[in-house]
Amino acid sequence: MLKLGVNIDHVATIREARYRGVITGEPDPVEAALTCEAAGAHGITAHLREDRRHIQDRDIFELQKRIKTRLNFEMANAPEIVAIALKLKPHIVCLVPERRQEVTTEGGLDVVRNERALLQTRKRMNAAGIEVSLFIGPDLDQIEASARIGAQFIELHTGAYAEHFSNKRRCKIELNRLIAGAKLAHKLGLQVNAGHGLNLENLPLLHRVPHLVELNIGHSIVSRAVFVGLRQAVKDFLAAMKNYKG
Ligand code: PXP
Repeated sequence: MLKLGVNIDHVATIREARYRGVITGEPDPVEAALTCEAAGAHGITAHLREDRRHIQDRDIFELQKRIKTRLNFEMANAPEIVAIALKLKPHIVCLVPERRQEVTTEGGLDVVRNERALLQTRKRMNAAGIEVSLFIGPDLDQIEASARIGAQFIELHTGAYAEHFSNKRRCKIELNRLIAGAKLAHKLGLQVNAGHGLNLENLPLLHRVPHLVELNIGHSIVSRAVFVGLRQAVKDFLAAMKNYKG
C-alpha cells in the first residue's frame, strides 16, 4: 500500500503570517497533524528550517511527543539542526537542501558533491536509531551516490514532473525520469518515496512510477482543506492513492 505523509509546514506558514514571534496562535500545526492522522495519514512531515520561517522548535518537539504515526523530520545538513534531530529522535530524517531565499525546497540535494558530509550525518543518524532519506532529483548519478553513502530511503523530487504536467511532451520526459530513477534505486536496495508539487490532478499518472513506498504531500492538501476541511482533504488524497500497484 502506498503511504501518505502529510507535510504540515504550510499550516505553520499560515500561523506565522499573523503570529510571528508569538508563542501561541492559530492554526496549530500539531492539531493539524492529529487531524491528518485521524483521517488516515500514515505519517507527518515537518521541516524545521534554519530561518524558522514556519515550523518552530516547540512545534517539532510537540509533534514528536503527540503524534501516533511517524515523524519525518525534514532538515538541512547543518550542525545546529543535526544536533536538534539527534535530541528529537524522529523515526526518519529527510535531508534537503536549504537556500534562504526559496519559498519552499526547490531543488534536490547534490549528493555527489556532498558525499562525505552526508555520509557522516547518515552514520550519526543511524547510530541514534534514526532512518535517513535523501531528497534528490531523479538523476541516476545522485541515486548511485545515495546508495553509496548507505541511505535507507531516497525521496524523488517530483517538482519538475508537477511543473510540466500540462505540457504532454515535457511531462512524459519527467515521468520517464522518475520511472528510471525509481527502478535504479530499487535495484540498489534503496526504498523510494516521492514528493513536491503533487495534487489530485497529477497523482493518477504518477501511479506509473514503480516501487513507491510513501508520498509526501503538503501544499495541495492544505489548499484543499480551505474548501473541504483538512480531514476530508486527507481522505481525498488517500482515495487517489488507493489503487497504486507498485
Ligand atoms: N517533500 C519535500 C522534501 C519537501 O520539501 C516538500 C515541501 O516543500 C514536500 C515533499 C511537499 O511538497 P508540496 O508542499 O509541494 O506538496
